[in-house]
Amino acid sequence: MLNDDPADLAAALRAAAAELTAAGVPSPRADAELLAAHLLGIGLGELRVAALLGAGVPDGFADLVAERARRIPLQHLTGVAHFRRLELAVGPGVFIPRPETEGVAQLVIDYLLTGPAAGTDRPVAIDLGTGSGALAASIAAEVPHSRVYAVELSELAHAWASRNLRDYGDRVSLRLGDLRTAFDDLDGQADVVVSNPPYIPDDAVPNEPEVAEHDPELALYGGGGDGMLLPSAALRSAARLLRPGGYFVMEHAEVQAAAMLGRFRQSGFTGVSSHRDLAGKARATSGYLADAASPSKK
Ligand SMILES: C[S@@+](CC[C@H](N)C(=O)[O-])C[C@H]1O[C@@H](n2cnc3c(N)ncnc32)[C@H](O)[C@@H]1O
Repeated sequence: MLNDDPADLAAALRAAAAELTAAGVPSPRADAELLAAHLLGIGLGELRVAALLGAGVPDGFADLVAERARRIPLQHLTGVAHFRRLELAVGPGVFIPRPETEGVAQLVIDYLLTGPAAGTDRPVAIDLGTGSGALAASIAAEVPHSRVYAVELSELAHAWASRNLRDYGDRVSLRLGDLRTAFDDLDGQADVVVSNPPYIPDDAVPNEPEVAEHDPELALYGGGGDGMLLPSAALRSAARLLRPGGYFVMEHAEVQAAAMLGRFRQSGFTGVSSHRDLAGKARATSGYLADAASPSKK
C-alpha cells in the first residue's frame, strides 16, 4: 500500500510534479519521472513498477527537481537528448535537438534509402550547422552506406558533436567552421545537404526560459531582422555543394515558409515543397538542384 511518506517514490513523484507545475514546466509529471529514472538508471516502465511497489526515493532527486523548477532544461540535467533512435550527449553550449527536426531527418533518409538517391553506392550527405550532431548522426546511423560531413561554428557545440559522432569513425567527418564557406573541397559533389540553421527573427525572442536562457544565442537568431540571413547563406552553400539533381532540406520558422519557397526557386532549385511538422505547421522546405542547363537555374 502506498503512502504519502516523502521517502516513498510514488509520493515523491506526486510532490515533484506539483512543484514543477507551479514553476510552469510544460510536462511536469513526465519530467519528474524522467529525472527519477535517470537517477536510478532505469527506464520509465521499470520506474512506474518501482513506484507501484513502494520503492524509496533516489538520492539527489529533490535537488534535480529544484533545478528543473528553475527551468534548467531536462536534457541538461540528464545529459541526454533523445533524437529518433539515438541518445545524444548534450549540455550547456549546445542546442538541444527538437522533435520537429526528426521529420527533417526523415526527408533526407527517405531520399537516400527509397528516393532518387537509392541506387547511389556511397551517397555524400552534408549537415550545415550540426549542433549536437543530431542530423549527421541520424543519417550515419540509418543510412550505413552514406558518407556524412558536418560543420559547426561554435567550439563548444563542436565538442558535443565530436562526442556524438565518434562512433561512426571515418564515415563521418566533422569540421569546425562556417557553413557559409565550409567544404569548398566538396563543391558539386553532395547528393544531399541538410540544415537546421539559426532562423529565429530578431524580435521573436522565445518565451520559454529553457530556450531563451540555455540554448546558445548563436543557435537561435538567423540575423537580418527577419531571421533569414543564415538560412539564405545555407541555401547558397547547398546550391554550391550539391551535384545537379541533389536534394536540399532546410528547417525554418512557420512565418518564413512562403519566403523560403521563393528563395529556393530563385537559388536554382526545382520540385520545391513545403513540409509540415506533427503540429501541422510548415516548418521545412526542400528542393532538387536543377541541372545547369535547365531554365530555372538561369
Ligand atoms: C538551430 S541549431 C541546430 C543544431 C542541429 N542541427 C539540430 O538540428 O539540432 C543551429 C546550429 O548552427 C550553428 N551555427 C550558427 N551559425 C553558424 C555558422 N555560420 N556556421 C556553422 N554553424 C553555425 C549553431 O552554433 C547551432 O549549433
